[in-house]
Amino acid sequence: MDDFTAEQSTATRLRHATAMLSSEGPSSVDLAPYPELIYLDWTDYCNASCFFCPRSFNEYEKQIGGKGEFVPFAKLKKLERVLSSVKYFGISSSIGEPLLHPELQQILQWLYEINPKITIRATTNGTALTAEKAAWFAGHLDWLSVSLNAGNGEAHMRDMFPQLAARGIDAGKRWELHLRHIGEFIAALPAADRPRIRLNMIAYRHNTKDIVDFVRVVERVGCLHATISNIVVHPHIVDWSLYGVRDLYNEAVDKACELGARLGIRVDAPRFYTSIKPVMLDLEKACREPINVAYINRAKFSAPCCQWTEEVIAQDVYSDDEGFDRYWNQDVFRRLRQKRDSQSCRVCNLTRVFDETSFHFSAYLKKQLIASGQLSDKHSKSDYPEQQLVRVCVESRLDLPSIRHTLLRLNVPVEMAEQIESLGVAALPALEQACWDAFKTIDVPAEGNDICLAAPFLGIGWGPPIHDPVNKVSARWIGGAQAASIFVRVQPGLDCMMCLTIAYPTELERRLQVQVCGRPIETWFSRDEAGRAMIGAFVPADLMSTHDGRLWVRVACLDADGAPAAGLLSLARVSLSQETKIVVPLERLLAEKDALLGQQALRVRQLEQLFAEHAASLEQQLVRATKLEQLLAEKDLRASELERLLAEQGVLGSQLEQALAEKGVLRAEKDVLLEQQVPPSVEQPEQQVSECKSQIGGKILQVTDDSQSPKVTAPRRNMMTWLRR
Ligand SMILES: C[S@@+](CC[C@H](N)C(=O)[O-])C[C@H]1O[C@@H](n2cnc3c(N)ncnc32)[C@H](O)[C@@H]1O
Ligand code: SF4
Repeated sequence: MDDFTAEQSTATRLRHATAMLSSEGPSSVDLAPYPELIYLDWTDYCNASCFFCPRSFNEYEKQIGGKGEFVPFAKLKKLERVLSSVKYFGISSSIGEPLLHPELQQILQWLYEINPKITIRATTNGTALTAEKAAWFAGHLDWLSVSLNAGNGEAHMRDMFPQLAARGIDAGKRWELHLRHIGEFIAALPAADRPRIRLNMIAYRHNTKDIVDFVRVVERVGCLHATISNIVVHPHIVDWSLYGVRDLYNEAVDKACELGARLGIRVDAPRFYTSIKPVMLDLEKACREPINVAYINRAKFSAPCCQWTEEVIAQDVYSDDEGFDRYWNQDVFRRLRQKRDSQSCRVCNLTRVFDETSFHFSAYLKKQLIASGQLSDKHSKSDYPEQQLVRVCVESRLDLPSIRHTLLRLNVPVEMAEQIESLGVAALPALEQACWDAFKTIDVPAEGNDICLAAPFLGIGWGPPIHDPVNKVSARWIGGAQAASIFVRVQPGLDCMMCLTIAYPTELERRLQVQVCGRPIETWFSRDEAGRAMIGAFVPADLMSTHDGRLWVRVACLDADGAPAAGLLSLARVSLSQETKIVVPLERLLAEKDALLGQQALRVRQLEQLFAEHAASLEQQLVRATKLEQLLAEKDLRASELERLLAEQGVLGSQLEQALAEKGVLRAEKDVLLEQQVPPSVEQPEQQVSECKSQIGGKILQVTDDSQSPKVTAPRRNMMTWLRR
């Protein structure tokens, strides 16, 4: 779209650019690093005629007197140097269908050869996609966005291929074939590439009702990601903008996102009354266009960024191998890399948000809309008159789209919501009361009592919706007041059991209190098979008939003092089941039993955990006991060896003892013998010694002849002892 703006440049701009092109190029020493992303707009040819596309409403083919053209592969080869270094290659045409390039397969093969890590980003109308082409992209996809733009065959043909309708082609059959080809393309991709495909739908005033069907189609073709973008209107369709149907569009988006989450599909769709304009913008972070991103088109002139409003830049990238370097290093690029201070930067709409009129139509068309009364006068002063109210709502965790939906449905003046701007959550009680008063008067049917809180419903005080396609959960936060209401009508004659499902467990789940028509209701807490907390309650029979089945259900998370509790809680749904008088008490019994069983199951789980812990410690003890036993056995073995050794020693000992005893006997005998041979007196020592000498067979005994001395006996005894040994 932005290159299209460039196409419309004035003759002055062209002259300026031509002059730049003829100036001398930069020297190779100070060339800027190559970008990491190149968008290459290589065609103005297209097989579709989308009513919203400038190619159609500007009658482009008539203007150029032809169908459009493609930059041939031979010319693209001049970009080899830069393309072999980039990370991403963006195939996107401003007014053409890029995947219809007749040399696409060869170009992609060449790209993968010169840059094996390159990944592709592509926006396509999808008509060229088939199962065979999946191999062309396999392993090289960053993302591929298919502009399907419709939820059914009629809308697809009407909005994108009116020329085929004029030829009498069957819209339904064509649609089926188109979806089959897209589905086969996705299925033939490697599993890792499939989530990189997304289907886009342009939403405008007259197709918001198709948004939910579009999500179903996304699921049908096996895609996991749906995106909804807004139409940017042109003078022929000035009142087709979503801006005129903001609440209707928001409702459709809420339904689509809820369905998407249930189907496991991510749905990216902006909503009105939710955007916050950034106060400060860090341009260096927010915009990397002239530094990391380069735009190249098929023409001789280009722009350094997608918001360029100044003279176009001369571009001669296909003539020789240095062409891109010359283009990328022109003065304007160099200046922008040093400082983003150009006129375009100053008016750049980088901070522009979805809620601003300029996101949907030009300032010129806005004036037309105000003049024709289709846009209120307050828009003449501001592009976003609700900005402050939305900011307060977001800061107070209140979802303004949901509040507006309730007020509009109940015919309560929607301006009442503006009180939130000055009062914050303190404005809610008056809003709730006004809604309840209105609800009591309108004739809503008693149906739809399974309320999915992420989708539109009647209620006040709720925060933004949450959509979690991975876990297939949709829910809504309770708003910043920690209290929120639902207005619902049931059959007055029947008993009613209410069940509130909490989306994600939090510390607040047991703090939830329920009131019906101002009366506190006794609740019980249980969990479903998925572990989600459920709050059950019976609505007293008298309350069912007081307002002819109309109920004001109010939930609140309060602390022990009755003040709003700190924390967050989200509810997935509120179900009200009604049966005859016999069934409901039975259901209550069942519910209580379920709750009891749930508690018991929890106790069993706790006990199991305890057992498991005990078993683990017992096992450890067993291991230690076995080790001890092993040690004991080893000890026993050593002890018995010792015993055996001791026993052997004992035998030896007794043998020794015996030998000693025998020796002793011998000695005793010897002693006796010696005693007998020793004379009773020592009067004749010399004689006795000589006698002894003769008796002991020549053994020389040294004895003293000092036998009179009292010491005589000791040496002698010594000698006897010595002899005994
Ligand atoms: C111009 S197309 C080029 C690629 C391809 N032919 C296609 O349609 O996907 C780029 C994107 O701009 C979208 N587009 C075209 N005109 C638009 C408009 N007036 N408002 C919003 N989006 C528009 C198209 O739907 C497409 O997703
Ligand atoms: S398919 Fe793309 S380029 Fe072709 S007319 Fe539609 S929007 Fe324009």
